[in-house]
Amino acid sequence: MKTKYLQRMEITDRVCIITGGGGLIGLKHAEAVVEGGGIPVLLDIVGSGMERNACKLKEEYGDDVRCECIITDITSREKLCEVRDMLMEKYGHIDVLINNAANNPKVEGGSKNLGAMRFTNFPVDIWNQDIAVGLTGAMLCAQVFGEVMEKQKKGVVLNISSDYGIIAPDQRIYRKEGLPEEEQTVKPVSYSVVKHGIIGLTKYLAIYWADKGIRVNTLCPASLSNGQDDEFVAKISNLIPMGRMSDPDEYVCTILYMISDAATYMTGSTVICDGGRTSW
Ligand SMILES: NC(=O)c1ccc[n+]([C@@H]2O[C@H](COP(=O)([O-])OP(=O)(O)OC[C@H]3O[C@@H](n4cnc5c(N)ncnc54)[C@H](O)[C@@H]3O)[C@@H](O)[C@H]2O)c1
Repeated sequence: MKTKYLQRMEITDRVCIITGGGGLIGLKHAEAVVEGGGIPVLLDIVGSGMERNACKLKEEYGDDVRCECIITDITSREKLCEVRDMLMEKYGHIDVLINNAANNPKVEGGSKNLGAMRFTNFPVDIWNQDIAVGLTGAMLCAQVFGEVMEKQKKGVVLNISSDYGIIAPDQRIYRKEGLPEEEQTVKPVSYSVVKHGIIGLTKYLAIYWADKGIRVNTLCPASLSNGQDDEFVAKISNLIPMGRMSDPDEYVCTILYMISDAATYMTGSTVICDGGRTSW
């Protein structure tokens, strides 16, 4: 059957930068890009995760899958300019930027215990590092790669936030039974601030570039299932109207939709995939 609309999801040969491309969701962005026919360009400060994700792409889609892996620090404008110049020399265009990298401290059950981290003793150096990666890094990537998109008069930026960009963490789900209050660990304040801030960055850039052919949107994934212990899974599931955590695969089609020409009238939007958690 001939289709009229589905081909709008095709992003054939589009160069799609994915920051934090060596991480858990980085792989899902890359799968979305590959399924659309584009070229994922993974940027990460460590190489091992990117290599693992590139191997998974080859296992899934075959050895001829195109995927770039570039070790870089997104908090350095200078390094990002080198990446931009390298990609422009090789491909001549940069089409999509997915601002995905963030420090995501795992404080839930089954994860490595980071030690007691309350708001009142939260170290300012961790705050600064988290802001540097999650907000400054996203802003710098938008500056450096957005400049190319401005010249092309075409581009897409997808910023990755979280349900914690919409609501505050319910700290009760991170509590460990039997520990005194001062030894309980909380989801850090920097995570909330970065994830709320990225939505502000989206709205600012969406309006700034609205008539320049560049669309900017936010995706809020939530409650990803990733080997957490049963107690944590039960506690968080209880906060979610659908009654369960999400599978990372459940974001792939939304990602491809948002970065493709299927979404040409969408800019400045926040798309929340959270099983209903922020709705009740
Ligand atoms: N996993 C979840 O449950 C969840 C839920 C909601 C939202 N998110 C968001 O999704 C995004 C990805 O999350 P994830 O779980 O895949 O995280 P992850 O920790 O698996 O991946 C993040 C990647 O960013 C990289 N990175 C860190 N600093 C960097 C720097 N300076 N330059 C380049 N790369 C750097 C890390 O090396 C890592 O590979 C984050 O923005 C996170 O806030 C995750």
